[in-house]
Amino acid sequence: MKEVEVTVLRYDPEKDENSRFDSFNIEAKKNMTVLDSLFLIVEDQDPTLSFRCACRLGMCGSCGMLINGRGRLACRTKIEDLGEKVLVQPMRNQTVIKDLAVNMDKFFKNWEKVKPYFVPKEDTDEFSVIPPSSGRREIIDENQDCITCGLCYQSCDAVAIRGDDFIGPAALSRAYNLIADERDGARAERLDLVTEEDGAFGCHSFGACVEVCPKGIKPMVTIQKLKIKKLKKAIGLKW
Ligand code: FES
Repeated sequence: MKEVEVTVLRYDPEKDENSRFDSFNIEAKKNMTVLDSLFLIVEDQDPTLSFRCACRLGMCGSCGMLINGRGRLACRTKIEDLGEKVLVQPMRNQTVIKDLAVNMDKFFKNWEKVKPYFVPKEDTDEFSVIPPSSGRREIIDENQDCITCGLCYQSCDAVAIRGDDFIGPAALSRAYNLIADERDGARAERLDLVTEEDGAFGCHSFGACVEVCPKGIKPMVTIQKLKIKKLKKAIGLKW
């Protein structure tokens, strides 16, 4: 066990005029995660500390936070990998509900904007299967595991600069998966939708989304593929 100082940015918009940093000393056991340390603080030192989590397994995407300056899932980040001082802040680009819990409405409104659901073609069986051996699934395989944690959105400088005028990396990546699916009846409409002013061309390729994604997805790369598809469509090439 080693003693670690966990500093948390605190803010309750209903009570506080300004945010503040509170530090807590904890005894960190081997393999303890940042999420474990927050539970320990709530149990032993300050029951008013607020944060969000559910699965504790890196699957639900609800424990995204800024940990030592980098967007990470608290349940997948071990204290021993961070040193003796840990700084925990809420995700950027979203408003704080309280302490580390943020309002993700903006993120999910953008998700909704891209029509994030499959629209079957009239002449296609909605359940038609793409055989794994065909190679066609590989086009989207690398984007499949998105858990909508919002870490890419919070790290995105285009979102920080343009706010609601940019759809953001997660939703654009989701749109690509559907556009790349030949069975989808709304791919052309969707491609036009996500390459409007607030869409793919707003990405400046900063690449922070690629660095922070806990699932190894590369939204910046996918967004470039959307741009290429749009250009091909515009000049009448197969896209
Ligand atoms: S609690 Fe579900 S991803 Fe961390």
